[in-house]
Amino acid sequence: MSVKDYENRARFSEKRIIRFQNKVLDFYRKRGRVFPWRNIRDPYAILVSEVMLQQTQVDRVVPKYLEWLKRFPTVSSLACAPKGEVIKAWQGLGYNRRALHLKRAAEVIATKYKGKVPRTLEELQSLPGIGPYTSGAIAAFAFGMNLPFIETNIRTVFIHFFFRGKKKVRDEEILELVVRALPNKVRLLSRHKVELCSVREWYNALMDCGAMLKRAVGNVNTCAAKYAKQSAFKGSRKEIRGAILRRATEKEKVTLADFKEHQTKFSVPEIFSELASEGFLRKIGEDFTLA
Ligand code: ADE
Repeated sequence: MSVKDYENRARFSEKRIIRFQNKVLDFYRKRGRVFPWRNIRDPYAILVSEVMLQQTQVDRVVPKYLEWLKRFPTVSSLACAPKGEVIKAWQGLGYNRRALHLKRAAEVIATKYKGKVPRTLEELQSLPGIGPYTSGAIAAFAFGMNLPFIETNIRTVFIHFFFRGKKKVRDEEILELVVRALPNKVRLLSRHKVELCSVREWYNALMDCGAMLKRAVGNVNTCAAKYAKQSAFKGSRKEIRGAILRRATEKEKVTLADFKEHQTKFSVPEIFSELASEGFLRKIGEDFTLA
């Protein structure tokens, strides 16, 4: 153990960690939420849910997730689907790049991994659109692997219980506690509920506890070093990209003229070309269609 590990252990005692685990778990067992991606084991469905949940609120994800799995129930159905269909099915979730990443990930899984979602963090992270957080969540929820990861709700819980009032909490500091609080270790102080808790249940509990804290106390993540305020959406590049793409999913074609009144400081033709080069749109003469 490094000096830093010793310092942290002294700062947050084993007893305190166990108290924390029991509090989180008690909350979840009384007030946990039910979602269609919980209590399932299909790694593909879990991958879809985690990519959707990366940047979209759960309430918006639930119906889209269910529709998606009806339309693309397996890796191969998504891998073989036309790109335009995939973009269409994504509408309403925002950050459309994720739809193309998900499709490409399905193609890689179909060809390189014989249709089976890979199990290691390294292989998962080699897939498009899957970073450290999503790979950890898939490994834990789909494969029951007992490993640490952080996302926004998890960050909230740890800041609330261990770093309240502290400025600029780094993810590395939080991660050390995530590791220490992982379930299914043999504990000296036995007869604690957490010994009977699976890693799946534990992460569901952390996420629900974080979501509840955000509703109850507001976003404490402003204390996190990583926290960055979202810039204004109206007139932003992202807004116009989204508007163009939405139009392309609704109409046969989309033209520059459709957007000449759009209030933005960005160049609309440039954004059209950008969407085409990224594979969302196809240019046909002066007009564009969904790829
Ligand atoms: N946010 C990210 N992953 C989640 C999950 N599995 N359940 C609820 N919220 C989440």
